[in-house]
Amino acid sequence: MRVLSVASEAFPLVKTGGLADVVAALPPALARERVTVRTLVPGYPAVVDALRDADAVHAFPRLHGGPARLLAAHAADLDLFVLDAPHLYARPGNPYLGPDGKPWPDNALRFAALAEAAAAIGRGALPRFAPDVIHVHDWQAGLAPALLHYGGTPRPATVVTVHNLSFQGQFPREILTAIGLPPHAFAIDGVEYYGTIGYLKAALALADRITTVSPTYAEEIRTPEGGMGLDGLLRQRADALAGILNGIDETVWNPATDPHLPTRFDARRLARRAANKAALQARFGLAVEPSAFVVGVVSRLTHQKGMDLLVEALPALVALGVQVALLGTGDPALERAFAAAAARHPARVAAVIGYEETLAHLLQGSVDALLVPSRFEPCGLTQLCALRYGAIPVVARVGGLADTVIDANAMALAAGTGTGIQFAPVTRAHIELAVGRAVSLKRDAALWRRLQARAMATDVGWTRPAKQYAALYRALVKSRGS
Ligand code: ADP
Ligand code: GLC
Repeated sequence: MRVLSVASEAFPLVKTGGLADVVAALPPALARERVTVRTLVPGYPAVVDALRDADAVHAFPRLHGGPARLLAAHAADLDLFVLDAPHLYARPGNPYLGPDGKPWPDNALRFAALAEAAAAIGRGALPRFAPDVIHVHDWQAGLAPALLHYGGTPRPATVVTVHNLSFQGQFPREILTAIGLPPHAFAIDGVEYYGTIGYLKAALALADRITTVSPTYAEEIRTPEGGMGLDGLLRQRADALAGILNGIDETVWNPATDPHLPTRFDARRLARRAANKAALQARFGLAVEPSAFVVGVVSRLTHQKGMDLLVEALPALVALGVQVALLGTGDPALERAFAAAAARHPARVAAVIGYEETLAHLLQGSVDALLVPSRFEPCGLTQLCALRYGAIPVVARVGGLADTVIDANAMALAAGTGTGIQFAPVTRAHIELAVGRAVSLKRDAALWRRLQARAMATDVGWTRPAKQYAALYRALVKSRGS
């Protein structure tokens, strides 16, 4: 089984969120299921600079405004195809946004080019790699199933994974011909989306299978509340839709070997986390109090993540006696609000505004609870890291958070289960109540240790999800008789 995975990010080469982690961690796990994956990504400077011994394996004399090449290379433990198209991608910084913080004006063409390259590989441009399945991630790769659909047969099978339905890639209808689609593609069962062209919509309409990153999100997106305009289409395609949970890379996230932790630990040596807590408190400028209950947050600072509600909840959390350590970047207004709250409550609230891999590990390896108050969350990875690091997840009962954290309610505790705390609805008041519950659970030290041990024993790796993806690919290819 050969699969071409197509995405706009891959950790550690380029990352703005969990998509990059998933795109990088799934191929090695699939290799263990005898699925060979090559990953196609745009040739941003950070990607091209990381390549050693790249081979040019295909040339596009002209691809949306300039010449382009496909480079084959092995980097970051991935077998990559890199679309080297300097006129589209040789721009530093964020992969989607220009220096003014707005999407690049030519994003429609930048990601049409990525899809075009994927479709070319699907149609046999590379004699040495003919994929059985083209698996595209999110809107940035979403046009590939459409190009293959309208390009005629034979074509490989196509799968789209939705990592976040709120990013849809909508562009003016006038570009239809320029992006290589026939006039009849602009139709309700094609790429048309409320009078525009929708790249994600195109994939949802035309890919052979749709997956998203948790079973609960697969349900939520079929409701008007969670469907963001696409629920009708997703209901229609329910038979082709499946939810497969993400995992995390257990070699990157292993508290027993983590090079970013001052003190490594495992479920039998939880007391060692105390030294990490002291290091975190010092690094974040919190009062260095061993007994303080520390609530951690690692997040994009956005409305999706409920960060505005957290700002509102901070005074009550301080009144509860907890410390809050936040690591995040995002909306400038939220960044300012957290900085201001930290200034108002020195020693109790600390915010590091920035993106720092090392600090994310230190935080997971030291805090008592990791708070994830998302309004919606397709899967979420930080709560999986928290489970593995014995930081008790306190999460909104939505999407993948609902599917990965077992609420330690009275009956769960009586039955000897429970790995964290869920709350609903997602309001300031319920954030306060949920953190309060965590604080009272920790008063029983033995119970808390058992909770941590169960959290750390949770299966958060990629083996199970990879088996599900492999089964999906095999069933799909079989159903098409190829
Ligand atoms: P999303 O992709 O919606 O942002 P996920 O939970 O799926 O949410 O993935 C977020 C990923 O980014 C995790 O690997 C998390 O550790 C990481 N992350 C988020 N913010 C930061 C930050 N400020 N510094 C370091 N890592 C971060
Ligand atoms: C998106 C979602 C997040 C998910 C990640 C990886 O960024 O917001 O919930 O974990 O993709 O699938």
